[in-house]
Amino acid sequence: MNQTTQRVAVITGGSLGIGEAISTQLLNLGWRVHILARRASSYVHSDHYGCRTHDVDVRDLDAIKEAAETVAGSSGHVDALVLCAGVGYPTPLTSASRVQYDELFDTNVAGSIFSTQAFAPLLRDGEAVITFVSSIAGRRGFSDWSLYCASKHALEGFAASMREELRPRRIRVTSVQPGSVDTPSYDHLQPEEKREFMDPVSIAELTVTAIQLPPQACVETLFVNNAVGDL
Ligand SMILES: NC(=O)c1ccc[n+]([C@@H]2O[C@H](COP(=O)([O-])OP(=O)(O)OC[C@H]3O[C@@H](n4cnc5c(N)ncnc54)[C@H](OP(=O)(O)O)[C@@H]3O)[C@@H](O)[C@H]2O)c1
Repeated sequence: MNQTTQRVAVITGGSLGIGEAISTQLLNLGWRVHILARRASSYVHSDHYGCRTHDVDVRDLDAIKEAAETVAGSSGHVDALVLCAGVGYPTPLTSASRVQYDELFDTNVAGSIFSTQAFAPLLRDGEAVITFVSSIAGRRGFSDWSLYCASKHALEGFAASMREELRPRRIRVTSVQPGSVDTPSYDHLQPEEKREFMDPVSIAELTVTAIQLPPQACVETLFVNNAVGDL
């Protein structure tokens, strides 16, 4: 497949959890997939012929720009930009700290905003999709999770604005809002505590379906909650 016909994805946080499942599904569908994460090269299928890994911290804006230049040089264009790199943990008001605020907002908000800025020039007009992996925490509030919820609400505002700003280029913007998903970020929980959690593969399948819809269709919001309700 030559460079102009092969579909190209850039996935921040594509090495683990929900992002890993999206990377793997797109690779299996024949996409070229660029993964950005601090330990991107640890991605389980990093030796797949379609996979390129970039060890990048999304809080480092120069490193993101450098990765975008590398992707431009090797792939030339991008059809799907998935902003999945994120962190989350409880921050009760009584103990929430500035360090936690900085980590949550620098990763979940600034990392996604400036990755979008760096890769937007590479997105194919009339074809491309940007997918923000937000959360149910981007539409509701949860006790003890205020900083995470605030970061995901901020991400929702950015995503909604990008949908309008990039509409003249016919670039579609999707916000994915999962409930609780069993990923390495919940490795500290016991199996019985995660019995009702979703499988990251299910979230990836829906996300990839939205990415692959014809260019006339835009899934603006993909809200997938746990069957038992909010967890
Ligand atoms: N799991 C859930 O229940 C759930 C529910 C709703 C939404 N989400 C959202 O889904 C996304 C993925 O979550 P997950 O549960 O799949 O998490 P995960 O398993 O912990 O994976 C997080 C991914 O993000 C990368 N990452 C984290 N910090 C980064 C940084 N500073 N720079 C670059 N990459 C970074 C990680 O790679 P490195 O550590 O190598 O950098 C990894 O690839 C997050 O945005 C999260 O908020 C998760």
